[in-house]
Amino acid sequence: MKKILVTGGCGYIGSHTIVDLVENGYDVVCVDNNSRSNTKLLEGAETILGKKVKSYKVDLCNYDETYAVLQENPDITGVIHFAAYKAVGESVERPLMYFENNLLSLINLLKCVQEFQIPHFVFSSSCTVYGNPDVVPVTEETPPKPAESPYGYTKQMGEQIVSESVKSFSTNAILLRYFNPVGAHPSCIIGELPLGKPQNLVPAITQTAIGKLPQMTVFGNDYPTRDGSCVRDFIHVCDLAHAHTLAIDYLVEQRNLSRCEVFNLGTGNGVTVLEAINMFEKVSGQKLNYKIGPRRPGDVVATYANNDKAKTLLGWEPEFNLEQMMQTAWDWELKLKKDESLYGSQNSILN
Ligand code: WQD
Repeated sequence: MKKILVTGGCGYIGSHTIVDLVENGYDVVCVDNNSRSNTKLLEGAETILGKKVKSYKVDLCNYDETYAVLQENPDITGVIHFAAYKAVGESVERPLMYFENNLLSLINLLKCVQEFQIPHFVFSSSCTVYGNPDVVPVTEETPPKPAESPYGYTKQMGEQIVSESVKSFSTNAILLRYFNPVGAHPSCIIGELPLGKPQNLVPAITQTAIGKLPQMTVFGNDYPTRDGSCVRDFIHVCDLAHAHTLAIDYLVEQRNLSRCEVFNLGTGNGVTVLEAINMFEKVSGQKLNYKIGPRRPGDVVATYANNDKAKTLLGWEPEFNLEQMMQTAWDWELKLKKDESLYGSQNSILN
């Protein structure tokens, strides 16, 4: 059974990916420093799987700790690297913390990949590398533009570090550019656990609807789009998770090591913020309390994916539609309210 190291495995996308990997025959080792997470989502993944997942509480910025994990698991054949800070606004306030954490952890990990000659590496990247695209849908050949935030720069630099490094390793790599991950596992046992006040649209919607937030703001309805609000490509977290399993499958089957391939992971459907809200209201059966506010600095007007490459080469086919994305997100929020004791309030994660 091939063993995959998943960094950031206690996080939203990491925990869903662990479920998909194990369900598809892989063995998994999880590494997470729990600075922005706790073990609840990993425990939830174990509940879904009906088995324990080997895990280490390790900070990838500590090379010796990272090395020790690889030394103890010499049969690791692939790495999927999720662990990183990802709050756009926070990155603007604390750029050096973002550059240090996101890049030093990546460099330490790659040094271990080289040292232990691990053949396969998957890097969690983001559509944010495209900045404000001139043409949509964006293909993988769309030239990156200056990032809109230090977070975005860490993804652009991270891609360069991976693609340049593996040229001298016997490792093949894949960069996965996520569009907007949303929703929760259909079992309602794992989902998104935003820290503090949610920055992203869908948790802001569900927390407003359930009463955790008094009202949400739509950041601008004067954009040059069909209804004036921004356009995004929402992708269900389970579809995103399965793409990682297919990416590892693809790397394992490839003979040509030292290659680095890029794939967009989006549905290819552009949806406006107001359309997303309307779908939520349909699914929840309740009116959302929101107001129209000023534009948010750094927001991209419109972006959505051309996902032909992932469909063709990875055999990936997103299955969840916008209604199911909103339904699973809402079911998860309802579950959190009911089982507050189980997960505690999102704010409690930090302590
Ligand atoms: C989407 C749209 C907002 C909240 C970022 C990162 C990306 C990835 C996902 C990590 C925008 C609007 C939002 C609210 C709103 N990050 N919005 N009211 O900015 O597209 O992408 O998060 O993996 O890399 O760049 O996502 O959900 O923050 O915003 O109107 O309360 O929703 O203005 O148009 P974004 P988002």
